[in-house]
Amino acid sequence: MNKNKIGLTNQNAEVLSDSLNRLLADYQIYYQNLRGLHWNIKGKQFFTLHSKFEGFYNEAVETIDEIAERILMLGSVPYHSFEDYTNNAKLKAVKNVTEGEESVKVVLNNMQSILDSAREIFKKAGDIDEEGTASMMSDLISYHEKNIWMLSAWLGE
Ligand SMILES: [Fe+2]
Repeated sequence: MNKNKIGLTNQNAEVLSDSLNRLLADYQIYYQNLRGLHWNIKGKQFFTLHSKFEGFYNEAVETIDEIAERILMLGSVPYHSFEDYTNNAKLKAVKNVTEGEESVKVVLNNMQSILDSAREIFKKAGDIDEEGTASMMSDLISYHEKNIWMLSAWLGE
């Protein structure tokens, strides 16, 4: 069986990198949604949410880079065009959201979808003993679980 540079069979590495590329596409849409919300937010909660969304997109930038570099380690090419992102993402681009509660719900829904995908990839990686991706997904799962809790608390849910 052909193995790649980090000792995984090419077939297993390809299955994982396809899933990671779809997660990367979602993450880029999530990132751009956060930027739009950061820019367009209006109202009494402007200062809190404007800076909260900035914090989230700065964290998203780091995650985007980690996912893309993981795909390279697996021997594939990360998606790197807007076209690839919009064609492969599950998440929808959100436009013209200005209201506080609605904007938090967008972030919450995006995070819930990403959490589902991260869990699927975690399982796939575990099935083939791919510790590196599993560990990355484990961190991502904890990160989103914590923020989903906090955003829900903010919404009073
Ligand atoms: Fe800004």
